[in-house]
Amino acid sequence: MSQFHPLTVAQVRHETRDTIAVTFAVPPELRASYAYQQGQHLTLRTQIDGEDVRRSYSICSAVQDDTLRVAIKRTPGGVFSSWAVDHLQPGAVLDVMPPSGHFNVPLDAANRKHYLAFAAGSGITPILSIIKTTLAVEPHSRFTLFYGNRASSSVIFRDELSDLKDRYLDRLRIAYVMSREQQDIDLFNGRITQDKCAEFLRYWVRVADVDVAFICGPEDMMLGVAAALQQAGMPKDAIKVELFAATGANGPRQARAHAATDAGAQQTEVTVIMDGSASSFTMAQNQESLLDAGLRAGIDMRYACKGGVCSTCRCKLVEGQVDMDINYALEDYEVARGFVLSCQSFPVTGKVVIDFDQAE
Ligand SMILES: Cc1cc2nc3c(=O)[nH]c(=O)nc-3n(C[C@H](O)[C@H](O)[C@H](O)COP(=O)(O)OP(=O)(O)OC[C@H]3O[C@@H](n4cnc5c(N)ncnc54)[C@H](O)[C@@H]3O)c2cc1C
Ligand code: FES
Repeated sequence: MSQFHPLTVAQVRHETRDTIAVTFAVPPELRASYAYQQGQHLTLRTQIDGEDVRRSYSICSAVQDDTLRVAIKRTPGGVFSSWAVDHLQPGAVLDVMPPSGHFNVPLDAANRKHYLAFAAGSGITPILSIIKTTLAVEPHSRFTLFYGNRASSSVIFRDELSDLKDRYLDRLRIAYVMSREQQDIDLFNGRITQDKCAEFLRYWVRVADVDVAFICGPEDMMLGVAAALQQAGMPKDAIKVELFAATGANGPRQARAHAATDAGAQQTEVTVIMDGSASSFTMAQNQESLLDAGLRAGIDMRYACKGGVCSTCRCKLVEGQVDMDINYALEDYEVARGFVLSCQSFPVTGKVVIDFDQAE
């Protein structure tokens, strides 16, 4: 099941003119379901003008905070974020899916690691959770954060970051990078691009000293920073990325012709395993994703973005083959283990079995 629970909004705090931090009250019987790891996100759902609207928002609280909080930044013209920033009040009830996502690494109190993070705008949300959780759990590890914004007024969590810096004087370094506000050090003026990142790595951080890098921001920044890190010698699997939206991510997928590998197979019998039970339906190949066909067949499959970005629809392909279009959410090792995004998967064999119960 897509597993939404109605949660009451306990607090709405305005972080900047266009960003709110929203804290949910979690009743005791749901605490286990809403326990989370740093860097995970929630899918929120509500009705706006009679439409079911669901979007993902990263958790900004730390695991040890015993709080469930997300931050929502208004996207100009955006349906959910504009509604939330304008109307969300304490006492409101939203449908919330339990935490999901893999934007983190396992922590260990014995680690002596140097973590690097690049965030832009609302991309700070999961990074804040990761920094706070990591510095508390790993007393010998340190973090360097490059945080891009237009100007000081748009910096989300400025006070909280400043408190963290005071608390972890020797273990947290923060460089604010401003694109529309002149700062004294020229290196920190402009946008975080591949060239800018290469300069940071030349003058500010030695890649050889870094164990893991986290990147969260617009797609062009993510690609640029990842390229600069790899060029400087960082292995790809030490770079963790989280994308909030990709070009065309919210658009409807155009049906395309996919070559069937089973000779003459035009229909696929799909079995969906979820919550320990199996449901089956038949779908035509090359026309719909597994997710759309499953929803049409009345199966309550999990999803949020339908654009290959959020990984909410992740499942394991246990039989048959699919053609997966866009994938911004799964890492190479997950694909190698057979995980697919059902919103982007088009069956190409006569029988396909997908399992939502296998997480690893
Ligand atoms: C894993 C993950 C984590 C995320 N975490 C966060 C987070 O912590 N904080 C956060 O703020 N966001 C986060 N996001 C992004 C969030 O899920 C939403 O995508 C974002 O809030 C925009 O949603 P929206 O409904 O406001 O915009 P949408 O209505 O979906 O619009 C998206 C874009 O389309 C444009 N658009 C909309 N309607 C039209 C139209 N009629 N014509 C032309 N253009 C149009 C909008 O201007 C906007 O640019 C996350 C996303 C993912 C996948
Ligand atoms: S629903 Fe977001 S990746 Fe499929």
